[in-house]
Amino acid sequence: MPVVTVQPEGVRIKVPHGSDLLTVLRNVGVNVESVCGGRGVCKKCIVEVVSGSISEPSSAETGIDFSQGIRLACQTKVLGDTVVKVPQASRQTKGKILEKGVAAGFDFSPAVKLVNVRLEPPSLKDQRSDMERLLESVEVASIDSLLLKRLPSRLRELGWELEAIIRDDEVLDVRPRSNRDLYGVAVDVGTTTVVVYLVSLKNGRIVSVKSDYNGQIVHGDDVISRITYAVKGYDNLKILQNKIVETVNRLVRAALDDAGCASSDVYEAIFSGNTVMLSLLYGAEVSAIASAPYVPPFRSSLCFKAREIGLETNSSAVACTLPVVSGYVGGDVVADIMVSGMHRRDENSMLIDLGTNGEVVLKSRGLMLAASTAAGPAIEGAGLSNGMRGMEGAIESVSIDVETYDVYFKTIGGKDPRGICGSGVVDSIAWMLISGILDQRGRIVDLGIPRIVKTNDAKAFTLAVNSDGRRICVTQSDVRVFQLAKAAVFSACLLLLKKAGLAPRDLSKIYIAGAFGNYVDPRSAMVVGMIPEFPLEKIVQIGNGSGHGAVMSLLSKKARGEAELIARKIKVVDLNTVREFQSEFIDSTLFPHRRREMFPKVIDAIGRRMPLLG
Ligand code: FES
Repeated sequence: MPVVTVQPEGVRIKVPHGSDLLTVLRNVGVNVESVCGGRGVCKKCIVEVVSGSISEPSSAETGIDFSQGIRLACQTKVLGDTVVKVPQASRQTKGKILEKGVAAGFDFSPAVKLVNVRLEPPSLKDQRSDMERLLESVEVASIDSLLLKRLPSRLRELGWELEAIIRDDEVLDVRPRSNRDLYGVAVDVGTTTVVVYLVSLKNGRIVSVKSDYNGQIVHGDDVISRITYAVKGYDNLKILQNKIVETVNRLVRAALDDAGCASSDVYEAIFSGNTVMLSLLYGAEVSAIASAPYVPPFRSSLCFKAREIGLETNSSAVACTLPVVSGYVGGDVVADIMVSGMHRRDENSMLIDLGTNGEVVLKSRGLMLAASTAAGPAIEGAGLSNGMRGMEGAIESVSIDVETYDVYFKTIGGKDPRGICGSGVVDSIAWMLISGILDQRGRIVDLGIPRIVKTNDAKAFTLAVNSDGRRICVTQSDVRVFQLAKAAVFSACLLLLKKAGLAPRDLSKIYIAGAFGNYVDPRSAMVVGMIPEFPLEKIVQIGNGSGHGAVMSLLSKKARGEAELIARKIKVVDLNTVREFQSEFIDSTLFPHRRREMFPKVIDAIGRRMPLLG
C-alpha cells in the first residue's frame, strides 16, 4: 500500500491504492475545508503535492496552475508514495495562537494568587488586630474594605486556617482550605459582539467561552451613534453602561453555569475593547472623544472594584481595562498587537482588525502607525437582510458552481441555515464576483436564473431556502453596505502604507484579527478587495486578538506591562485629515478596486471564473 506523508505535521499513513487525498487527510485528523463535499466546486481543499505518484488532474481542476504542485485534495487519488503539504488557509482550524489561554513568550504569572495560611489565634499576650494578623502573615499591605468589615467573623468561622486570595498588594478574600479553583474573566467588549472567557487562574485553562451581541446595539450600530446617544445626558450614559454590564453579567453567568462554578470564585475581570466601549463600561463621559482633538477620558490601564459597576463576580474582585492609545484606537488594538507579536519582530508588517470599528496597524522599522475606520457592523453579519452573529445555523462558508450557479455552503454546527455571519458574507460576495453574478461596481447582474429574485423591488441572490421555506439571500442593498465596509478597511490599509512609503510587497506578514478574524477566508477577503493582494502563506489569522490579549493579561503580569509599552509606542493617523482619504475610499468601493493593477491575481481569477488559489 502507498504511504502518504502529511506536512508540516510529518504524519505518515499507509492507504489503499486510489484513495482520495481529502479522505486520507481526514483520517489522520487534518481537517481540510470542503464546503462542496468533495464535488470539486468550492476549490477550498487546496493542497500542495510535494512529490509522489498521483492521478492526473480532473476536469474540476481545469484552470489551476499545477506548476507549484497545487491540487484539489478531493480530486487527487494516491497511486504511490506521496508527500503532501496542507497550507494553513485550507485548514478548518486556522491560526490558533493561544493554547490554554497563554501565548508563547509570556510567563504564567496572574496578578491574583492563592496562599495557604495558618494564623496564630489572638491571646492576651498577642492582641494584634485581625487585619494586622492576616496582613503580616501574608506580607501584603492592604485588604479589601468589604472583606475587612466581616473579617472578624470569617477568621473565627475558619478556625484561623484558610486560603487567602491576594491580588498584587491587597487581600481580596479568605475562604476554607480546599481544592477549589479560582477564576478570572477576560472580556472583549466589541461594538457589536461581546465575548467572555472564563479562565482558571490556577492553571491558565479557558474553561468556557460565551458570546452575544452587545446590548447597547439598540442605541446605535457604531461608536459614533453610541457617543451621540451618551452625550445627550447623564441618564443616557448610565443606560449605555447598564446595557454593557447586563450583557457581560449574562455571559459570565452562562460561562459559570457551563463550568459548574460560582460567581464568588471570580476574582478579576480584564476588559479589552475600543476606547468608547471601555469608557462606557466604566461610565466615563465620552463627549471629548466626539470632536477634535478626540481626547479619551483615560489612556493607561484603569483598575477599580468590579462592584462599582455592578459586575456579578466576587464582591471584592478587581476589574481592569487594557490601556488605550487614543480616542479611536483602543485596547483591542493593543491586545491584537500583543497576540500577534508583531512589535517584537524586526520586519515590516500590517495588522488588520476586521470589525464594526475596523483598525489597521502598520509596523515599519521602529515605527508603529495605527488608523481607525468605521467599517460598520456588516462585517460582523449585523445590519444585513439575513445577517446574523456567528452562531449555530449561520452560513459561515460559501462557494458557487460557476456553470450551474448551485450554491454550496456550510453552517455553524451543521444546522438548518438561519442567516449569514461575517465570514459567510465575505465568501458569498467573493463567489458572486467570481461567478459573474456581481459586476465590478457591485451590481447584481440579471442572469435570468431562478436564484436571482426581486425583494422590495431590488435584486437579491438566493444562497439557500431553509426548512421553514425562508429564502436566505444577499440583496443589492447588502452588497452596497458591504462595499462601504470593505472600502473603509482597504483605504485605511493603503493610506498607512503610503504614509510609511511602502507597498504591500514590502510587508513580511499581514495579521488578520477580529471577532470573526479566524473564520474569514483570506482568499475571499482579497477577491472583494478588503485586504491587499498578498501571498497566502504570509497571512496569519490570529482570531479574536482582543479577547485573547485580555486572557493573556489576566494570566501574565508581564503581558500587562508590555501592553502599556505598546500603547505608548503607537502613533495614530487620523484618516480624516489625510487629503487623499475621500478619493481613496471611493476607489476602494469597487470590486476589488478601481485601480485593478493592485489586484492582478484577483483580476486574473475573476476573468477565468476561478477562485484565488494562492
Ligand atoms: S472539497 Fe474539493 S473542491 Fe470542494
